[in-house]
Parts: sequence; C-alpha cells; structure tokens
Amino acid sequence: MATERTLSIIKPDATRRNLTGKIVARFEEAGLRVVASRRIQLSEAQAKAFYAVHAERPFYNDLVKFMISGPVVVQVLEGENAVAKNREVMGATNPANAAAGTIRKDFAESIEANSVHGSDSAENAANEIKFFFSDLEIVG
Ligand code: TYD
Repeated sequence: MATERTLSIIKPDATRRNLTGKIVARFEEAGLRVVASRRIQLSEAQAKAFYAVHAERPFYNDLVKFMISGPVVVQVLEGENAVAKNREVMGATNPANAAAGTIRKDFAESIEANSVHGSDSAENAANEIKFFFSDLEIVG
C-alpha cells in the first residue's frame, strides 16, 4: 500500500474544549504524520462550499452554522492507507455508534458536534486538500 494523504478537520466543539493536542496525538499514535496544519475561522461561504455535497440534506444548515461557530484546525495527514486509517481512528459519525477508543467515542458531543472530519475516499481527499492547501504548504 502506497503512502496516501487525507484531509482532517478538528471541529469547533473540540477546539473550544482545548482538545487539539489530544486529537493530534491519536493521529500520530496511529502512524499518521501531520504534513500541513492551519488554525482558521471558516466563513459561511467556505463552510457551505466545503459541505456542498450535503446541500440537500436536512442537517445542512445546522452543520454550516456549527462549523463556523468557532475556530477549526485543518490538517493534511500522511501515511500508509491514510484515508481508511483516519476514518478508523475517528470512529462512526454518531458517537453513540463509535467503537471504543476512537476519537468520536472519547470526545464527540453529538452526531453534529462530532469533533473531527476526515475525507471518505482518495478522490475526495485530493479535492479537500486542494480546498485548503497549496502544494507549497504541504511538507512531507
Ligand atoms: P457524513 O459525511 O455522513 O459523516 P462523516 O463526517 O462521518 O463523514 O456527514 C458529515 C457531517 O454532517 C457529520 O460529520 C456531522 C453532520 N451530520 C449531522 O449533523 N447529522 C446527521 O444526521 C448526519 C448523517 C451528519
């Protein structure tokens, strides 16, 4: 399996509770390397564009409001099988269904305030990484 990259976002519920370091440690312990990182405040337009794929879903407007409710930390994670590995470390979307030891099981507040985003395919990862980072900002 070749080295892969994926896009991670530490969401506002986690930055608000000062959990950034604890969450990054979970990535590193799983063998994922942070090769780009930036703390930002998303604009409404950026959050809408990032989650455009969910525009028709009933939770879309609340999700956008939540994602702009505080700072987020956007990161590129690199490693073997990084997309799947990150999804494994994150746990299920709804923390009630997340496996023991996952980020969402241990830290998420609800299905909406679920602490982390992670790309769900290699193709989406490439697009999501481009959304936030230029090639020059990613240092492997
Ligand atoms: P989704 O892509 O289904 O999950 P994941 O983040 O695990 O890839 O949904 C994107 C985000 O939308 C999810 O992290 C939280 C929010 N969401 C809700 O608020 N309510 C819902 O019922 C679902 C399915 C998602």
